[in-house]
Amino acid sequence: MSEKCEAVFKRFEEIGIIPVVVLNDAKDALPLGKALMEGGLPAAEVTFRTAAAEESIRIMSENFPDMLVGAGTVLTTEQVDRAVAAGAKFIVAPGLDEEVVKYCLERDIPVCPGTQTASEMMAALKLGLTRVKFFPAENAGGLKMIKAIGAALTALRFMPTGGINAENVKEYLKSDKIFCAGGSWMVKGDLIKAGEFDKIRTMAAEAAEIVKECRG
Ligand code: 3PG
Repeated sequence: MSEKCEAVFKRFEEIGIIPVVVLNDAKDALPLGKALMEGGLPAAEVTFRTAAAEESIRIMSENFPDMLVGAGTVLTTEQVDRAVAAGAKFIVAPGLDEEVVKYCLERDIPVCPGTQTASEMMAALKLGLTRVKFFPAENAGGLKMIKAIGAALTALRFMPTGGINAENVKEYLKSDKIFCAGGSWMVKGDLIKAGEFDKIRTMAAEAAEIVKECRG
């Protein structure tokens, strides 16, 4: 993996918890970015599930150059292009699509595909990856499953995402199999819709505190 990609994954690890964001309106990107930055959780995986994703990535990247802003739920190479053109520094997907992963690697774009089974993880290793998402983490067996498969596939480290909250994230973060966790609990859609950015800032700060507590 290139130095550029390694540097991005190092930042994932330092930040520890990556907020997974669904934005319906790009006007929320600025106050949301501000709340996450002020809360000390300077990252966002903006999911390509809404039409506002691209513009939201652009707004956050331009206004917060120190923020690790990337795209989630990226299903096609065309979405990779749009995300990167908007300023995305990484690509995350719910599953492993070989074409999308190769496309990213050829262009030196950090990519973290979703995996759940040993076969999918082996496919990731074969493509040259050492970090994968484990999705949907809690439904797919959680940390127990990661440890069981990770014991065999020792080169891999994981970003559990799906069903993670301020409580169960602690066990994950204490494991050396985990390089970071992803979750939406501090950036829930109803909080964004209600404009409760102060609350988001507070929850982001709590999440940042959990990372410190768990990692010392
Ligand atoms: C998602 O698919 O939205 C992410 O995996 C986040 O899941 P969560 O909402 O359970 O944190």
